[in-house]
Amino acid sequence: MERAVARIDLGAVRANCARLKSELGGAELCAVVKADGYGHGADTCAEAALAGGATRLAVATAGEAEQIGRRLQHVKLLTMGALTEDEVDAVISAGAELAVWREGFRGVVAARARAHGHRARVHVKYDTGMGRLGNPDAGEVLELCRACAKDPHLELAGIWTHLATADEPNSTYFDEQLDRFDAIAAAVKAEHPGVIAHAANSAAVLRDKRSHHDMARCGVAVYGLDPFQRDPAEHDLRPALSLRSYVADVKRFPAGTSAGYGRRWKAEVDTWVGVIPLGYGDGVRRGLSNNAEVLVGGQRYPLVGTVSMDNITVDLGPDTTVEPGDEAVLIGRQGEEEILAEELAARLETINYEVTCAISPRVPRHPA
Ligand SMILES: Cc1ncc(COP(=O)(O)O)c(C=O)c1O
Repeated sequence: MERAVARIDLGAVRANCARLKSELGGAELCAVVKADGYGHGADTCAEAALAGGATRLAVATAGEAEQIGRRLQHVKLLTMGALTEDEVDAVISAGAELAVWREGFRGVVAARARAHGHRARVHVKYDTGMGRLGNPDAGEVLELCRACAKDPHLELAGIWTHLATADEPNSTYFDEQLDRFDAIAAAVKAEHPGVIAHAANSAAVLRDKRSHHDMARCGVAVYGLDPFQRDPAEHDLRPALSLRSYVADVKRFPAGTSAGYGRRWKAEVDTWVGVIPLGYGDGVRRGLSNNAEVLVGGQRYPLVGTVSMDNITVDLGPDTTVEPGDEAVLIGRQGEEEILAEELAARLETINYEVTCAISPRVPRHPA
């Protein structure tokens, strides 16, 4: 029995990667393990993803590149985010690849690579319409690719973009971005054979083979979360994470008794209330106050009252067989019942990504 634990099914991560790889055919699968593997534990999930058919990894930050690069030195690792000059050093030392989209930054990377005494591998980012990182000027992107290719301290490894509406199945903007990307990718690859083109995230992989190019950068689906915020089973994805705790106490609540801060729930009839010792300090968001269900003994019980930092309360009903010590499941399966991260996301009016990323470092991640 543990106060709170995230159980990670690494077999599910492997299977999800195999599923994505079967969709991708010859294109490579790059598993995105940023934000501690979307809250699942980056190190173990990276290894499971590689075992499932991923051949590359991606992270967002220099710190993440150092963590993964140290451990998995033989695997190509892309750092996708913006970097300060100091962070460039850290990424090059970690042996990771960098994203470049401005000539000035290209110069910084080349100078630092020269100081390190080995070539830095760079992926030039074209902003085809995400409106975030990347260069939106196609001419500048081509020039930048040429400058990278002829710089002795750099190796032009990739041309890439990111899609803004891959998870919106009816969006034509998705096709417009791909049209823009295809034109530049073809031009870059004609001039620089061996460079890889990549655009797809999880939603794009499942939505349209046209987006696959030479590689796809998949995060959410690797963890068995549905990129379309529906049931992951619809795409044969297996949720990898469950969030588990236990019933620390069971108390009789005469009608009118309140639970938690602000007395935001009162028993309407005499009932039993279970106290479960995890809360928003563990990433169980306060927006779930009076707005979630918890599994105990394979049954759903309403979360009642305000989510505290370290505790939540559930209404077990007027007659209960639940006892202190029984397991409580906030995300995951227990018996025939299952609570998906997508369910909590809908209650919180957010996306499954945020639900698992929110699980705090106070919660240990253990294999299922
Ligand atoms: C640049 C980039 N590529 C790929 C991904 C992976 O996307 P997904 O988790 O939807 O597969 C992300 C995630 O946010 C990203 O920022």
